[in-house]
Amino acid sequence: MSTLRDLAEEHTALRPADIDHLHRVAGDWQLLSDLSFADLLLWVPVDGDGTFLCVAQVRPTTAPTAYLDDQVGRIVGGPEVAHLEVAHRQGRIWREGDPVWYGDVPARHEAIPVRLRTGDGEHGEVIAVVGRDTNLSTARTPSQLELNYLTTADDLAQMIADGTFPPPRHPGETTSAPRVGDGLVRLDANGKVTYASPNAQSAYRRLGYASHLVGEDLAKLHRRLAGDPLEGADAGNAVLAALRGEAPPRREVDARGATMLTRALPLMPAGVPIGALVLVRDITEVRRRDRALITKDATIREIHHRVKNNLQTVAALLRLQARRVAMPEARVALEESVRRVASIALVHETLSMSSDEAVEFDGIVDRVASAATEVAATEVSVGMRRTGSFGILPAEIATSLVMVLNELLLNAVEHGFPPADEDGASAPVDEPRPAVVVSVHRRRKELHVSVADNGRGLPAQFDAERGGNLGLQIVRALVTGELRGTIELRNGAAGGTEAMLVVPLARGTTDRLTGRAGPP
Ligand SMILES: Nc1ncnc2c1ncn2[C@@H]1O[C@H](COP(=O)(O)OP(=O)(O)O)[C@@H](O)[C@H]1O
Ligand SMILES: [Mg+2]
Repeated sequence: MSTLRDLAEEHTALRPADIDHLHRVAGDWQLLSDLSFADLLLWVPVDGDGTFLCVAQVRPTTAPTAYLDDQVGRIVGGPEVAHLEVAHRQGRIWREGDPVWYGDVPARHEAIPVRLRTGDGEHGEVIAVVGRDTNLSTARTPSQLELNYLTTADDLAQMIADGTFPPPRHPGETTSAPRVGDGLVRLDANGKVTYASPNAQSAYRRLGYASHLVGEDLAKLHRRLAGDPLEGADAGNAVLAALRGEAPPRREVDARGATMLTRALPLMPAGVPIGALVLVRDITEVRRRDRALITKDATIREIHHRVKNNLQTVAALLRLQARRVAMPEARVALEESVRRVASIALVHETLSMSSDEAVEFDGIVDRVASAATEVAATEVSVGMRRTGSFGILPAEIATSLVMVLNELLLNAVEHGFPPADEDGASAPVDEPRPAVVVSVHRRRKELHVSVADNGRGLPAQFDAERGGNLGLQIVRALVTGELRGTIELRNGAAGGTEAMLVVPLARGTTDRLTGRAGPP
């Protein structure tokens, strides 16, 4: 679907500033639609041919729509848009007496010119027309609420025609603004409440105000109710600013454990300040959930921290045990377990420091790799290198992957470059320097990792599919199980051993977590 900007740029001579204003209108007009119980269509004159193009549409949340079909993109000429033409040319609101029929839905048409005021505050130009079309099929004798809404709607419609609505936006207002249905209060020019919708009345009741709002001075009431005097002053001042014709930022009022979001709007049809509109929304639950989420995040981090501590304790106990056993094989086995446990602890340590269930993996790999070089026979010094980046990985992949890499790196160091006495002779002097390279790249949604050494290669008759002891069993179990990937062990083209690992990254995971697109 085309956007407002696309449509306007393609079909009209509107300038960027005009289009920005139309975006402001469309950003704030749900309010007018709801108060009017009417559909709003934003029409712009098509360059030079007397037709109008619909660039935006909003349906009321308070009443049935007059249009079941989407109108955006329609270009209309002739009698159907005569009223738009009048409003556009004369710069005044045009109301139609008789209903028009859409199929069997009767509707009333109105046309509101959209004016963009120029910098010097004077009149400005009419750049578009808002069609306000009310489905009359359910119209009945209006209630007090409906009458109040309709009066306010007419004031706002006039302000669109004057160019004083919508008000300028305040940057950084993230919470969505309160809507008409959330709670609406209308004030007269003295700041006294003339009408409060039932939902508004309930919202104030939650803050501890039990009486009727009508007749109250709302600015004073906000000051009185707010638990925090500064916040109360802000919320009170916002009301006063709107009464002066300004558009203050949204304010929150906290009292008795409840939170209310308020938005005050000036009402000044034809430039005369006649009062203000205050929309309120009880956001107690939203704020409660915000707080709960923050505590949940902190709790998760704390748990990772404790898991890390516990794993480190387990590793320390195994290390103590290893020092005390006499049998060399048992000692080696215990020392391997120490390294396995410690590698998992690294992931939890990293998780305990991030707010995501995801970790920057390169740092973890580098630490595991440098730990692996320490197990090299004392006379061999193995160079460790990483090329490429793992990026940010989700916790569940990271934990398994670190264990796999730990085993592969240990094998490369241990078996690729065995101590001289194992096969009876030391390495010839002209051999290249022992090195292990971990290289990684992302290809589509997969992580391709190779761990290659330039050591003596796999033993003859080694069954690369099934052979090995506990280390490779762990590797295969994790790769095919948890990681749903593949692993291949082979002799490298230029000697040594190479382990090739492919791990699928869950669809979308990478992008969501890193916020960056992976390489194509
Ligand atoms: N990078 C390597 N270079 C040479 N041989 C290797 C390499 N990786 C594994 N191997 C061989 O595979 C065997 C099984 O490894 P593994 O299952 O990790 O058990 P362990 O390391 O306890 O021997 C090793 O004993 C070794 O013979
Ligand atoms: Mg091993």
